[in-house]
Amino acid sequence: AFEVELASTGETVTVHEGQSILDAVREKRPDVLFSCEEGFCGTCETKVLAGSPVHRDTILSERERARNASMMICVGGCASARLVLDL
Ligand code: FES
Repeated sequence: AFEVELASTGETVTVHEGQSILDAVREKRPDVLFSCEEGFCGTCETKVLAGSPVHRDTILSERERARNASMMICVGGCASARLVLDL
C-alpha cells in the first residue's frame, strides 16, 4: 500500500494492494475524470507533483515517463511511499 495526497486540499488516501489509484481517489473525488480504465485513452492523466510514479499506460512516450510530470492513475502505481497528485 502507499499514500496519495490530493494537493488541492491536502487530503490523503491509501491505495491498497490490488486497488487502482483512480479507485482510491474516487472515494474523495467522485467527479474525477476517467474512461477506459486500461491506460490507453488518456482521460485520467494527472499531474504528479512529488513521488515516484510507476507508469503502466500505453500513452506516454519513454521521455514523458522519465520526466514523471504526469501519469494515468487508472493503471499507474507508485515506487515511493507517497505520491502527491495535482487533484
Ligand atoms: Fe483511460 Fe486512464 S481512464 S487512460
